[in-house]
Amino acid sequence: MTNNIHTEFSYRKMGYSRPLLFFILPIILGLHAPAIADVDVDNGVCTSRADYCWSCSGTNETFNNGSNYERNLHTVLSSFSSNKTEINSGFYNSSLGQGPEKVNAMALCRGDVPLNDCHTCFNESISILRQNCTNQKQATIWAQRCTVHYSNVSIFGVAEDDPVKFVPGPTNAPNAEQFKQVLNPLVVNLSGTAAAGDSMKKFAAGHALVPATNQTIYAIVQCTPDLDRQNCSECLDEAISDIPQCCEGKEGGRVLRPSCNLRFESNLFYDAASDSLVNLPGKQGNNTGNGTSNITTKVSPSSFLGLLLSLCLSSAYAFF
Ligand SMILES: *[C@@H]1O[C@H](CO)[C@@H](O)[C@H](O)[C@H]1NC(C)=O
Ligand SMILES: *[C@@H]1O[C@H](CO)[C@@H](O)[C@H](O)[C@H]1NC(C)=O
Ligand SMILES: *[C@@H]1O[C@H](CO)[C@@H](O)[C@H](O)[C@H]1NC(C)=O
Ligand SMILES: *[C@@H]1O[C@H](CO)[C@@H](O)[C@H](O)[C@H]1NC(C)=O
Ligand SMILES: *[C@@H]1O[C@H](CO)[C@@H](O)[C@H](O)[C@H]1NC(C)=O
Ligand SMILES: *[C@@H]1O[C@H](CO)[C@@H](O)[C@H](O)[C@H]1NC(C)=O
Ligand SMILES: *[C@@H]1O[C@H](CO)[C@@H](O)[C@H](O)[C@H]1NC(C)=O
Ligand SMILES: *[C@@H]1O[C@H](CO)[C@@H](O)[C@H](O)[C@H]1NC(C)=O
Ligand SMILES: *[C@@H]1O[C@H](CO)[C@@H](O)[C@H](O)[C@H]1NC(C)=O
Ligand SMILES: *[C@@H]1O[C@H](CO)[C@@H](O)[C@H](O)[C@H]1NC(C)=O
Ligand SMILES: *[C@@H]1O[C@H](CO)[C@@H](O)[C@H](O)[C@H]1NC(C)=O
Ligand SMILES: *[C@@H]1O[C@H](CO)[C@@H](O)[C@H](O)[C@H]1NC(C)=O
Repeated sequence: MTNNIHTEFSYRKMGYSRPLLFFILPIILGLHAPAIADVDVDNGVCTSRADYCWSCSGTNETFNNGSNYERNLHTVLSSFSSNKTEINSGFYNSSLGQGPEKVNAMALCRGDVPLNDCHTCFNESISILRQNCTNQKQATIWAQRCTVHYSNVSIFGVAEDDPVKFVPGPTNAPNAEQFKQVLNPLVVNLSGTAAAGDSMKKFAAGHALVPATNQTIYAIVQCTPDLDRQNCSECLDEAISDIPQCCEGKEGGRVLRPSCNLRFESNLFYDAASDSLVNLPGKQGNNTGNGTSNITTKVSPSSFLGLLLSLCLSSAYAFF
């Protein structure tokens, strides 16, 4: 029974609502609307060991050397990496300038990382962006222990869908199906905890056991804490539904988004002090591995409402 509940969750978006929407919307919009782009494309590059991954904005979104945008960007980013900036949480956001010269930036330390180490991670990340996203108005970098993101567009409180970077681990899970049966409810549980966090921190870490293989899965999820609970939850839902595309069958991986990210590994990769055991109801004892292909795609009340709403909105749109 529990097997059904979480497979239903993970396949809900991928397997049902999205394709349906993508089929129905263009029909209603009369096919003259441009194709709805699937923003869940993997777009970014990583260093060879994936210590840093980043994504820069399109080629046209550049600023000139000596421009006010460059000065504002430099000032804001320098404050993130300066040890003089007050350390009170692992999250920094800042805006500087007016109109087209306005720079919005945020830097987020992974929730278990000591605050004293945050500036160093920001400093290294910003150096990489300087070298590899030169003159780009927008850029995002995901380091192992922090994230830095800036844009000329306002980014505070907004769950951004783009860019997305998938970083699958190198090793296959010994029993991929059993692994997935535990991974999904684990990250769902952690998402609930993270989304319930306060405006300083929305982070959760924990592990769960895969009974069939006696393997432990360690996972973390995090949102930028400027997101409210619902936006954080939705962002992490998206990240969870990205797992099959990102990391199917792998015993480790990262789904990286500007506003939230998740990571799982088969070893303890975060500070043990942040760890917790997540008990998954019905997962204790011996799971013989049955019911693995028992996937029921149901539309949950909320996504059904969403579907109805988008249908109404798009029909209205078609009329005007
Ligand atoms: C899926 O599981 C439910 C109950 O656990 C069962 O009633 C149903 O027949 C199963 N479906 C398939 C296709 O195995
Ligand atoms: C980029 O700018 C060039 C020249 O200004 C223009 O021809 C091109 O269409 C632009 N590309 C995009 C994607 O906006
Ligand atoms: C951000 O920069 C892009 C590219 O130069 C521009 O098209 C867009 O209008 C800018 N947005 C804002 C809010 O300034
Ligand atoms: C700005 O200066 C850097 C060197 O400091 C150079 O690499 C880059 O091409 C310059 N960009 C523009 C748009 O002139
Ligand atoms: C990183 O820190 C060094 C000093 O340790 C400093 O010289 C450098 O400007 C910093 N880099 C950035 C991008 O702030
Ligand atoms: C900040 O302090 C750390 C040690 O706490 C040091 O390693 C780092 O170089 C300092 N960074 C700057 C920019 O001064
Ligand atoms: C990033 O910049 C560094 C320094 O310029 C360069 O060595 C490296 O190849 C760049 N990486 C990518 C993926 O472009
Ligand atoms: C399962 O793993 C734990 C530690 O991860 C170990 O103590 C225990 O002996 C293992 N059990 C079996 C049956 O392998
Ligand atoms: C930074 O984020 C906080 C919420 O976390 C918000 O109250 C504040 O206004 C933001 N700062 C800027 C400069 O927008
Ligand atoms: C996650 O699991 C823990 C322990 O198993 C439980 O106490 C907690 O309520 C769960 N949190 C959510 C949001 O489901
Ligand atoms: C679980 O099943 C394995 C064989 O699949 C068996 O060796 C082990 O004793 C069982 N453990 C429990 C707690 O039933
Ligand atoms: C597992 O499935 C097999 C057939 O697929 C069935 O014979 C067996 O009884 C099932 N075991 C459990 C515990 O459901």
